[in-house]
Amino acid sequence: MKIAIGNDHTAVEMKLEIQKFLEDLGHEVVNYGTDAAESCNYPIYGEKVGLAVAGGEADCGVLICGTGVGISIAANKVKGIRAAVCTDATMARLVKEHNDANIIAFGARIVGIEVAKDIVKAYLDAEFMGGRHVRRIEMIHEIETR
Ligand code: RB5
Repeated sequence: MKIAIGNDHTAVEMKLEIQKFLEDLGHEVVNYGTDAAESCNYPIYGEKVGLAVAGGEADCGVLICGTGVGISIAANKVKGIRAAVCTDATMARLVKEHNDANIIAFGARIVGIEVAKDIVKAYLDAEFMGGRHVRRIEMIHEIETR
């Protein structure tokens, strides 16, 4: 799978570890995040990953900032993006099964590296359930057309 990854300055180390974790699992990872420790603005990276996923350049995305919230809000402004903040593996599984999230986000100041790996693995291992959830996702995207 081709995975777009992005982060701000709070998550450089975690991004690099997650990138390696994903590559070790056999995925191709494209880094849209910063590799610098200097303070920067997370919306830049949320948008970059959002555009890569919405444009089909990546199959899905991983976003990391301090909490996962700011960067996911930015990504969710891109049409077609369903970015979901996760704090554990159960959330990560459910956002794929029910919401067909195409980006997962988490916080480097909230979860440790092992939980972050669990989140990513649970998300990648899960499958969208379809059925009644399709209608609800269509309703979300209908909002984008108003
Ligand atoms: C940066 O200090 C911090 O605000 C950012 O990483 C993120 O947590 C925002 O949601």
